[in-house]
Amino acid sequence: SKKPRVAVLGAAGGIGQPLALLLKASPLIGELSLYDIVGTEGVAADLSHIDSSVKVSSATGAEKLSDALYGCDLVVIPAGVPRKPGMTRDDLFNINASIVRDLCAAVAKYCPQAWVAIISNPVNSTVPIAAEVFKRAGTYDPRKLLGVTKLDVLRANMFIAEAIGKAPESVSVPVIGGHAGVTILPLLSQATPRVDVSAEKAKALTERIQDAGTEVVKAKAGKGSATLSMAYAAAKFAESCVLALQGQAVVECAYVESHLTDLPFFASQVRLGPSGVEEYLPLGRFSELEAKGFEALKSELRGSIQKGIDFVRKG
Ligand code: APR
Repeated sequence: SKKPRVAVLGAAGGIGQPLALLLKASPLIGELSLYDIVGTEGVAADLSHIDSSVKVSSATGAEKLSDALYGCDLVVIPAGVPRKPGMTRDDLFNINASIVRDLCAAVAKYCPQAWVAIISNPVNSTVPIAAEVFKRAGTYDPRKLLGVTKLDVLRANMFIAEAIGKAPESVSVPVIGGHAGVTILPLLSQATPRVDVSAEKAKALTERIQDAGTEVVKAKAGKGSATLSMAYAAAKFAESCVLALQGQAVVECAYVESHLTDLPFFASQVRLGPSGVEEYLPLGRFSELEAKGFEALKSELRGSIQKGIDFVRKG
């Protein structure tokens, strides 16, 4: 079948540029449509010299958004402002909430069938915002709206691989919940290979995974948040979406509308297929630490979801 057309909205940004590069280099992508409010042409021209068959086009500014979205199968959204030191993900809320709302309204209009993968933070709220926008437009398909939490999985894999002395490529840790602080819940007890560490060590590893974004914010000292690792995670996730679109079953962790818990949106392992999320894998048994973590994340995640919904309803 025809290789998919993938849009990156926010393509000139810190995440957008390396994401565009990785997608340009991907054998799975047919066309790459780059959109930003500034600087898109330069990124597209630069990438267009790479000898890959992926066809790159660019569009700049709201009046060109329709061109960017037309015919897209997958829309990846890293548009927004990044977190600066001292800023929590929620400080970004108002700016990024408006950006995601407006971009998703355009998706509903110009490529209503497309899958949408959201990176713009706070993901715990921006995914419910997108859902609300699509509902209003009458285009909502919960199976095709995905919050990208794969960086949390990569971090969990990496940190645990280091802790148990295994190659990171051989480690796989499900991460559930949300995409900020304590809402990020790595399930060490369900890791492959088995993670045999003390309760104390498990707690420390969990906390490092939950705070990993801040490690990068601090190290970048005022220049932004994770971009390269986020782009890598998003590119891998986009490739999984593209494989699924073309009929291959793939399992990924993603933040989606879900009925696995009493929270309306929840990140968990999902099986993706041609129509989007086709199966929500059971959460499995929690360790004592994980059960506590699950209880602890509920109120924050519920609040972030409601904040997103209210932003669209009351805004
Ligand atoms: N439409 C499209 N692009 C936009 C819009 C918009 N309405 N508003 C801003 N952008 C673009 C900016 O022009 C910029 O190129 O989004 C890009 C964001 O890039 P950076 O400022 O470098 O931010 P980045 O580090 O990439 O993070 C972006 O992802 O992880 C999240 O918290 C992070 O929400 C933030 C987002």
